[in-house]
Amino acid sequence: MRCSHVSVSFGSGAAEIRALHDVSFDAREGEFLSVIGPSGCGKTTLLRTVANLIPPTGGTIERVPGERILLVFQEDSLFPWMTALDNAVFGLEMQKAGAGWREAAARELLDRFGLKGREGAYPHQLSVGMKQRVAVIRCFLSNPAVMLMDEPFAALDAQTRLALQQELLALWEPNRKTVIFVTHDIEEAILLSDRILVLSGPPGTVIDELPVPFARPRHASLTLEEEFLELKRRIWAKLGSARMESVVP
Ligand SMILES: Nc1ncnc2c1ncn2[C@@H]1O[C@H](COP(=O)(O)OP(=O)(O)O)[C@@H](O)[C@H]1O
Ligand SMILES: [Mg+2]
Repeated sequence: MRCSHVSVSFGSGAAEIRALHDVSFDAREGEFLSVIGPSGCGKTTLLRTVANLIPPTGGTIERVPGERILLVFQEDSLFPWMTALDNAVFGLEMQKAGAGWREAAARELLDRFGLKGREGAYPHQLSVGMKQRVAVIRCFLSNPAVMLMDEPFAALDAQTRLALQQELLALWEPNRKTVIFVTHDIEEAILLSDRILVLSGPPGTVIDELPVPFARPRHASLTLEEEFLELKRRIWAKLGSARMESVVP
């Protein structure tokens, strides 16, 4: 997947809102790419444009023909009228599989990630953390070529967030699909990704691209290592200087 000089505007004339400006990057096959940037800089617009939900005003997006892309939202990715189990198995690829296999695969992941005994619960009966677990499990069971995740852990408390980051890596590491993961949390971006795009805006523009050199599997304790902190400081400084430029004309 490759974005070349992508711009997106909403409205026109005096009411025009420029959400993205000249954004270019590629997401390599099997890569975990994070996109980090301040609130309102255009991250969601970027994912929605990649997912083909918003047409770019300028530039092009090259996708692999026939490749399925799936988007996981910050909240409310689940159907409120379906149980956790039915939500987990909802997905195109899954529907092709036999009902027995489908259910067994979903139950196994729900059990493994803390939803044992809650398979029959509806979303309103689950915590935010449980709902996001189901949304992530559904994404993996559905097995798209590219997974887009829009701050899926942003609404969680710090403990739950750490747990879900580890669970996401445990699901992703065995057969690495391309992921584009949006976050505004620097630690989360470093812990999860192979590479980080730093955005400033609005309009969203790529101001830096940093490889993350740490070996996998990664554990939360990595966040205490000096090299990790060094990278965190670099990204922090990048985001800080972008903020200053947006207030100092
Ligand atoms: N559908 C829309 N119509 C008009 N403006 C929009 C729309 N979606 C997003 N925007 C604007 O585009 C900018 C980027 O928004 P968004 O992509 O949601 O940022 P982020 O996800 O980084 O917080 C904001 O100024 C926002 O108000
Ligand atoms: Mg957003």
